Amino acid sequence: MSPSKGGPTGHAADTASFSATPTATCWSWQRRGSGRYTDSTGTCGAGHRDATGPPSTNDRQTAMAERQVNALQHRRPRITIFGGTGFLGQRIVRHLLRRGFPVRVAVRRAQRVHEIFGTAGGALEGMDVDVHNERRIDAALAGAGGVVNAVSLYRERGQHTFASVHVDAAERIALRAREQGISRLVHISGIGADPDSGSAYIRARGVGEIVVSETLASATVLRPAVMFAPDDAFLTTIVGLLKILPVYPLFGRGRTRLQPVHVENIGEAVAAMLEDPASAGRTYDVGGPEVFTYAALVRTIAAEIGRRPLLLPLSYRLWFGLARVSILLPNPPLSRSQVELVQIDTVAASGMPTLEAFDIAPLGIRETVREIVRHVPRAGGLKRA
Ligand SMILES: NC(=O)c1ccc[n+]([C@@H]2O[C@H](COP(=O)([O-])OP(=O)(O)OC[C@H]3O[C@@H](n4cnc5c(N)ncnc54)[C@H](OP(=O)(O)O)[C@@H]3O)[C@@H](O)[C@H]2O)c1
Repeated sequence: MSPSKGGPTGHAADTASFSATPTATCWSWQRRGSGRYTDSTGTCGAGHRDATGPPSTNDRQTAMAERQVNALQHRRPRITIFGGTGFLGQRIVRHLLRRGFPVRVAVRRAQRVHEIFGTAGGALEGMDVDVHNERRIDAALAGAGGVVNAVSLYRERGQHTFASVHVDAAERIALRAREQGISRLVHISGIGADPDSGSAYIRARGVGEIVVSETLASATVLRPAVMFAPDDAFLTTIVGLLKILPVYPLFGRGRTRLQPVHVENIGEAVAAMLEDPASAGRTYDVGGPEVFTYAALVRTIAAEIGRRPLLLPLSYRLWFGLARVSILLPNPPLSRSQVELVQIDTVAASGMPTLEAFDIAPLGIRETVREIVRHVPRAGGLKRA
């Protein structure tokens, strides 16, 4: 988690500046004082595929060809994504590339960008940026037409506090975007974020949303529910524990409600929002297709892998105690903020547009559980049932 050394990698920063203006069907991306770049297909998002799982070799070849053509034609403005190597960030990057956006990934360890994505036909560049450094943020935003903030901090360490990342740095990114004339920003927060919460984490997320919206009124705030995928830390942990424990410990009585959403769906939603002028200035809660209580979720996963554990309610006081002890370990499996998060319902507020509103087919949790058991046999120490 230490900041990496400065200096852009990959392509030199494009010094042109873009702003997005809505048209009847789509964003058109106007370069100030010069040429105008529009989606020549006339349909936003044309050419993107349904996210129904990892792309096949054919999909990858097709997507690569599309990216090269699109990058060459400069049909879309560059999107800078802070946190583009993370669990969610990687999906956002791939969906943006698939839709023909050139992408700049701003993270502290930019060498990971090409390790993860390859070269993407020249449509992708990595840049060493710490979001605490205003100058580096400015460099990352130079020439961009849109921005995504997908930076996370789950455990405070030294100067890296929830407030410094989720409030101060979030505000800094919004401010620098505004100063550079960039109106399209998607700020990733989380369902349940609340400026009045007693939890430092949940409060910082809530205050962060407010300062971003106050700084850049056109920013879109996206609040995903807990996200899952075969490579997550959420489902794989539950599956792994279910495989070895005949008695499964619940958070409290397991009555907290949650609405897990596939990370691929959220990645695609971010790309869709950047194309949709109607999303500017709005806040979205986005959850998956089903709402579970925590106990029902554990039962559903257990049934999927052929287990019937005894579910054991454990008091939150005990969980907070475990989190305090866990923090002493090199890679703490549990943190105070995680326990605080499972104390509150994290489901989309009623009336929120669903994934279908963005033409995205929601992926269910059962298929991913089967995929984890099939393809990641050692996840959480498990073996195939
Ligand atoms: N995971 C979930 O279930 C979930 C649910 C709801 C909301 N969210 C939200 O979704 C967002 C992304 O979460 P995630 O789980 O994808 O996070 P993640 O996997 O931990 O990725 C974090 C990314 O941020 C970068 N980063 C961290 N600190 C940075 C800094 N100081 N400067 C620049 N880059 C920095 C990391 O790269 P470097 O380390 O190389 O800098 C990495 O690319 C967060 O806002 C999170 O709260 C997540």
